[in-house]
Amino acid sequence: MEITLKSPLDMHLHLRDGDMLRTVAPLSSQSFAGAIVMPNLVPPVTTKDSLLSYKERILEATKGDVFTPYMTLFFKSTYDYDFLADFGDTLTAIKLYPAGITTNSEGGVSGFELDTLRPTLEAMSELGLPLCIHGETNGFVMDREAQFVPIYEKLANAFPKLKIIMEHITTKESVEALERYENLYATITLHHLLITLDDVAGGMLKPHLFCKPIAKRPHDKEALLEVALEGNPKVMFGSDSAPHPQHAKESCGCAAGVFSAPLALIALAELFEKHNALKKLQNFVSNNAQKIYSITPAEKTILLKKQPTLIPAKYGNVVPMLANEEVLWSIEQIR
Ligand code: NCD
Ligand code: ZN
Ligand code: ZN
Repeated sequence: MEITLKSPLDMHLHLRDGDMLRTVAPLSSQSFAGAIVMPNLVPPVTTKDSLLSYKERILEATKGDVFTPYMTLFFKSTYDYDFLADFGDTLTAIKLYPAGITTNSEGGVSGFELDTLRPTLEAMSELGLPLCIHGETNGFVMDREAQFVPIYEKLANAFPKLKIIMEHITTKESVEALERYENLYATITLHHLLITLDDVAGGMLKPHLFCKPIAKRPHDKEALLEVALEGNPKVMFGSDSAPHPQHAKESCGCAAGVFSAPLALIALAELFEKHNALKKLQNFVSNNAQKIYSITPAEKTILLKKQPTLIPAKYGNVVPMLANEEVLWSIEQIR
């Protein structure tokens, strides 16, 4: 059995910088035609200079591959129309983090008062720049995302022309919110389609499956699966592949993030095939994103075949999801 994917896109990816960038970027650029690159470096990407030089380093690290890094800025409520207009095509979206909610988000926003956010969000609406949000409150960890839904709704109501992307959604509540607002969209990761909290902490603790937002309940996973497998036009694949060195994961203060980029496409093929939904995979991994973001990626054709791949124990010093396990599909050809 085979399937051909045209220009797959990863709409939420952490590439980091320096040695880590050089290790992980080729593992995405090999099989994806492009990716939305997250700006949560240390310090975060907040200026045109830092965005352009980061893009150059990504292009250098992915040289030889057909791969477009779609660049994002780390949201600040001080950005105005002229500042944002000056980026032109080099800026694809802006990523908003509540302060301190996840890895490298300390400089994020500390409140969602419309008056504070309005100038920047109005400028983004006018420029057609999507707003990507890590939507969690600082409440109880299992409830954070559901508690954030009213904030998504407030923003979606106040800025009807702004495309708002609910990043890496993990709950039924988020899936339901999607259908209520025309301007709400979402990315869904591979891991949240495969695991629940049980897989992370139900038995021996699995640090390599620990991420924000934490994996939720079985009915949440079912709700995510339903919209992904039907190729629902409001959702798109975003791996949220977030590499951390092995020592930072296997530690008494485990860093949040699952590294899945190298196996994302083959594991998605296995999952979609299992649910008789292979025909919808193209929508989930590219077509929906192209429409939502109004982007046309370079042509790249990936032939996947039902033939097992053994996932390595490590890539550099990063342990991937499904390390030492077999995925039932493999990448046969890249053109
Ligand atoms: C991400 C990271 O490591 O940068 N971690 C995570 O658990 N998802 C940050 C993020 O996407 O929230
Ligand atoms: Zn996040
Ligand atoms: Zn992320």
